[in-house]
Amino acid sequence: MFKVKIITSSTRPGRKGPAVAAWVQELAVQHKELEVELLDVAAINLPFMDEPNHPRLKQYIHDHTKKWSKIIDDADAFIFVTTEYNHGYPAPLKNAIDFLFHEWAHKPVGFVSYGGLGAGTRAVQQLKPVLAALKMVPLVEAVHIPFFSKYLNDEEKFLPEEGNIKAAEGMIAEMVKWAGALQPLRKK
Ligand SMILES: Cc1cc2nc3c(=O)[nH]c(=O)nc-3n(C[C@H](O)[C@H](O)[C@H](O)COP(=O)(O)O)c2cc1C
Repeated sequence: MFKVKIITSSTRPGRKGPAVAAWVQELAVQHKELEVELLDVAAINLPFMDEPNHPRLKQYIHDHTKKWSKIIDDADAFIFVTTEYNHGYPAPLKNAIDFLFHEWAHKPVGFVSYGGLGAGTRAVQQLKPVLAALKMVPLVEAVHIPFFSKYLNDEEKFLPEEGNIKAAEGMIAEMVKWAGALQPLRKK
């Protein structure tokens, strides 16, 4: 059993990220080997980085950081659901990443990106070196959704096409493989 945490990146009122994340969650929970949790960066509501020490020292002074640390430490794998703002990923996601260090390490991360023509791919490309610095393993298999709003119905439910599902299944399969391969590295 692997614990997978799906993390959304956008926080603005009226954001569409939760609709895409809800679809990813629906799909992931069908995998019996996965325990799935959705983490909304807006709900986690971290302030701008306010820890005095480098996170690799794990000398956290704030309760919000200790809570966030426990949540991320508990995960075996991640799926980042992200849009792209001005060809990069949203700042609240970077802030949430920077709060921690060891908690992210030796864990695979899959991507589901959405946007206009670029489908959020530029955001994902910018995330990869950042996550590699934290010793994460960014997966090649990913879901990129161009002009994603055409898949939202009147209730703002994301209705995927066959290709989206196929891509997501490929990403999840790869994530499970890496979660198993990396688990021994995290054992003390
Ligand atoms: C500040 C801002 C910048 C944006 N920049 C881009 C962009 O660079 N590329 C793109 O494809 N879409 C861009 N968009 C459009 C987003 O893809 C679209 O608004 C999407 O719904 C944003 O995700 P969210 O609803 O989860 O916030 C931008 C939107 C905002 C609000």
